[in-house]
Amino acid sequence: MSKTLIAFFSRADENYFGGAMRYVKVGNTEIVVNSMKDMLTADIFKIEMKEPYSPGYMTCIDQAKKHLRSNARPELVSLPDRVDEYDTIILGYPNYWGTMPMAVFTFLEAFDFSGKTILPFCTNEGSGMGKSEKDIKNTCNGANVAKGLAIRGSKAAGSETDVKKWLAKNGVI
Ligand SMILES: Cc1cc2nc3c(=O)[nH]c(=O)nc-3n(C[C@H](O)[C@H](O)[C@H](O)COP(=O)(O)O)c2cc1C
Repeated sequence: MSKTLIAFFSRADENYFGGAMRYVKVGNTEIVVNSMKDMLTADIFKIEMKEPYSPGYMTCIDQAKKHLRSNARPELVSLPDRVDEYDTIILGYPNYWGTMPMAVFTFLEAFDFSGKTILPFCTNEGSGMGKSEKDIKNTCNGANVAKGLAIRGSKAAGSETDVKKWLAKNGVI
């Protein structure tokens, strides 16, 4: 039977929402993942760093930029044992500096995704998918990487219709 994994990175705490900083308990990408739970049956894996970014937005920005510049592969708290049983991986992340957080690269490099379909979605504050789709293709040789869904972070809570349409277009629901 065909199985789906939703793997995602998301950061709560202080973030920037259309002109103002706010503390939130659940990150934007995780809000979208939570809405997907009612739309399809999938296993869910949260990509978490052993040393998470700061709860403070400005410090987090600096830390993530350093990781990008040094092409870091931050250590993760855990990884799924294997991904063999999944045909489809829905990959969610925030746009960080035009691509994915480096922890998502750590996750992708840990497995062989050849022959699998990856459906990327990204929350962002204006840069859309950035170059993340290209980066996923370069990292996951032999995977079929679908056109991604970009969601405005501050609109994550109202994105159900777009998410449903995208999942349906890709044959997951
Ligand atoms: C370190 C960092 C870098 C970011 N870089 C970008 C960017 O290049 N382009 C963009 O549109 N948004 C950028 N953002 C905004 C996030 O993509 C957006 O707030 C996203 O919804 C956060 O998702 P999360 O709450 O699931 O972590 C950045 C945010 C952070 C914290």
